[in-house]
Formats: sequence, C-alpha cells, structure tokens
Amino acid sequence: MPPSADALFSDQWLTLREPADHRARDAQLTHAADRWLSRRATPVRALEIQRTLVDLGCGSGSNLRYLAPRLHGAQHWRLIDHDAELLAHARLRCEPLVSADGQPIHLETRELSLVDAWKHGLQGADLVTASALFDLLTTADADALAETCHINNCAVLFALSVDGHIRFHDASGAPLFSDDDQFMLAALEAHQRRDKGSGSAMGTQAPRHLRESLHRRGYHVREATSPWRLGPESLPLAEALLAGWRSALDEQLPQQSRRIERWHTQRLEGLMREQLTLTVGHRDLFATPPESDGVGAPA
Ligand SMILES: C[S@@+](CC[C@H](N)C(=O)[O-])C[C@H]1O[C@@H](n2cnc3c(N)ncnc32)[C@H](O)[C@@H]1O
Repeated sequence: MPPSADALFSDQWLTLREPADHRARDAQLTHAADRWLSRRATPVRALEIQRTLVDLGCGSGSNLRYLAPRLHGAQHWRLIDHDAELLAHARLRCEPLVSADGQPIHLETRELSLVDAWKHGLQGADLVTASALFDLLTTADADALAETCHINNCAVLFALSVDGHIRFHDASGAPLFSDDDQFMLAALEAHQRRDKGSGSAMGTQAPRHLRESLHRRGYHVREATSPWRLGPESLPLAEALLAGWRSALDEQLPQQSRRIERWHTQRLEGLMREQLTLTVGHRDLFATPPESDGVGAPA
C-alpha cells in the first residue's frame, strides 16, 4: 500500500525543524542511553563492541545526526523509512559522522513501512530510537513496537513526541489562551488524531500510550519534556508551522475559514513583530528492558 499523504514529509521541512529539534531534546536521557549501551557491552573492551541502533521513521537522518556524536563506541545504524528519497538524503548526510570517541559509524538503510519494521527490522537491536514520529501511529502500533522491543530485549529512546502543550506568550512571557486559541488548538488536536490509513492516530496521546505499553512489559521508563521555544531567531520555522496548522484547520473546519484566517494572521503578525513567542510541547522517553535490571536501569 502506498504511504498516505499524511505520512509523507519534505526534506525541506525536516531540515528547517532540525536545529529546533536538537536544541529541544533532553540531554540527560541521551547520556542515560549512552551509559546503558556502554554497560551492556561490558565487561571486555566495551568501546570496540559494535552496537546496533535502529532509527524508525528516520526521514533525512536528523535523529542520527543528534545521537551518533553523543554516543560512545562503534555504532551500526539501521535507518528505516518508507520514503526512499529521504533515506537517500539520510545516507548522504550521515556517512561522514563519527561517534563521541571518534569511531566511524556504519550505516544501513531499509525502505520499509513501520508495520514491516516491527516484523523484520529490529533483529539484533541494542537500542531502538525514533524522533518526531509517534503522533502519526496508532495505539496498536505502539503496542506492537513495545512488544517487539521486549522480545528483542532492547532499550528505546523516543524523542520529540508532541504532547499538545502549545501556547503563544506575550512580550512579558505570560501565556495567552484566547477563545480562538482554545478553539483552534482543540481542532488541531482532533486533526492530528485522524485516521492516517490504519486507524485513529495517537496524536498528542502518543507519549502516554508509549509509556503505558512499555510499563506493562516491565520496562523502566524515564521521561522529560523537550519543548520547542520559538522566538525571533526561529521565525522561518514558526511561519512554516503556522502555515501547516492553517491547512490542517481548513481541512478540519471547512466552514470556519474566515475565523481561521483571522487567527492565523493575528498570531503570525505577533510573531513577526516580536510581540509573541510560541512554545510547542514534546516529550522524550528512554526505557530499558526488565532483563537488563543489572545493566543500568535509568537512574
Ligand atoms: C515527522 S517525520 C520525522 C523524521 C525524522 N525522524 C526527524 O526527526 O527529522 C516522520 C518520518 O516517518 C516516516 N514515516 C511515517 N509513517 C511511516 C510508516 N508508516 N512507515 C515508514 N515510515 C513512516 C516519514 O516518511 C518521515 O520520514
């Protein structure tokens, strides 16, 4: 089945969001993943043993560009996405990367749907990771992923899952929440949860479902917030984000186009005149499997 339009992303959008993504991520959870991977490879020559890391929905490789230079030791990365063009960009841009201790990384790309990834993509994985992915998936996907990770006894590091905490702030930093903000943000949330081809998407409920699904399988779960904070220096990203929200709102509320246009114009002008900033909430999650209790459960 070809990917639905909701599950296709341009390299341009992924490139635009990458600096904000990298600034927002929780560094402590990455350190915890690094420590866990090092301890899993002990006792002998930990840094020479190659870990297998799987990046689900890798796009053009932003998650790998963040993680590879922050993790120690030899790394074999398996990049999985259903978009062949993005996989090609990822390979080209990630091949020169080295690990935190200067070792070259090995890359493998697989053009696969995530459903196929649960079945054939995670063998031998030490760490399964993903960024900005889970709002698109269903609760059944979250359960299938948690189950496959459990069977493979691997840790997971899932970054930048949207949590629905979106606020505009005025120049003093005070949050705004007008009737229009409330109305539009609720409609955006409903749009995110639409069926993307295999059932209702988790949208902003993804962090909760992932946490619960991993907990049920005995995983030790640690979470942190990783919000985008978009000020004047991030105007191109905020502009593109608001344009995307406007299209989504037009689809969700076709009878409300004038109200949507007015809200969009007001909020965009506020950002452009540096009267407003925008916070977009995400959560990061790091979890280790029960069998690894002695191997660095998250502190
Ligand atoms: C929002 S992008 C995030 C990309 C990348 N992880 C990043 O942080 O820049 C979501 C990615 O998931 C991929 N994707 C979405 N649904 C998928 C599916 N069912 N199977 C495989 N890949 C999928 C898209 O092609 C896209 O590259």
